[in-house]
Amino acid sequence: MGGVRLVLLGAPGVGKGTLAKMLKEEYSVPHLSTGDMLREAVKQRTQLGKETSRYMNEGKLVPDDVVVGVLRESIKDCEKGFILDGFPRTNRQADALQDILGEMGISLDAVINFEAPLEVLVQRLSGRRQCRECGAIYHISNMPSKESGICDVCGGELYQRGDDGREVVGVRLRTYEEETAELIDYYRGKGLLESVNAAKHREETFEEVITILRCKK
Ligand code: AP5
Repeated sequence: MGGVRLVLLGAPGVGKGTLAKMLKEEYSVPHLSTGDMLREAVKQRTQLGKETSRYMNEGKLVPDDVVVGVLRESIKDCEKGFILDGFPRTNRQADALQDILGEMGISLDAVINFEAPLEVLVQRLSGRRQCRECGAIYHISNMPSKESGICDVCGGELYQRGDDGREVVGVRLRTYEEETAELIDYYRGKGLLESVNAAKHREETFEEVITILRCKK
């Protein structure tokens, strides 16, 4: 299938990363997750990681200027398509994205807004496990690995993200409501917003997104 230029929007734990990995295979485009990029910077102890780890550990947003710089660098060779996961998260980031895409002479095909009730988000975040090596995402009951604590894909160690503890999850969910949820109206106003029910099985949500994108082409 041809490339797509997508933004995945939605609260922490709604399944953006999980769906992005499925959509990346379907459309053969890069999955650009600012969360993954920042976690990698922390892991590698780069200057960026040192500057941003405090915000991430506390469940707060990294300053716009920093994260826009990260995005600008990662998207520059992606004219043919991309799946943006976790960016933009503020109006300023959304304006910056529009400017960057404008400079590249391209525009978004759609913004997919994933919706699920709060209890689903909390259940998903509290049981999430991720591979330290390849980033594959699991859940202790919804999507367990075949062998406990070991990644099915690469054999790497599964770990619980530091920001998935109960207190920090509370801050992240509030931060989403206060700073990111307004992007739903922002993109609705631009005629780009498509909302999907993300509380279902991931294959069903995937099919819903594919159907939406087929209708747009
Ligand atoms: P980021 O990594 O982007 O975290 P997030 O947006 O909070 O999203 P999550 O990764 O927690 O959830 P997800 O929706 O991807 O869910 P997942 O697929 O894993 O950001 C982390 C931090 O980085 C931020 O707090 C901030 O500090 C910083 N940051 C990043 N971007 C930034 C930006 N643009 N500006 C400023 N700061 C930024 O699924 C969750 C669980 O549910 C998994 O266990 C999965 O197996 C399970 N699951 C998924 N789908 C289903 C399903 N359909 N059924 C059952 N279980 C499911």
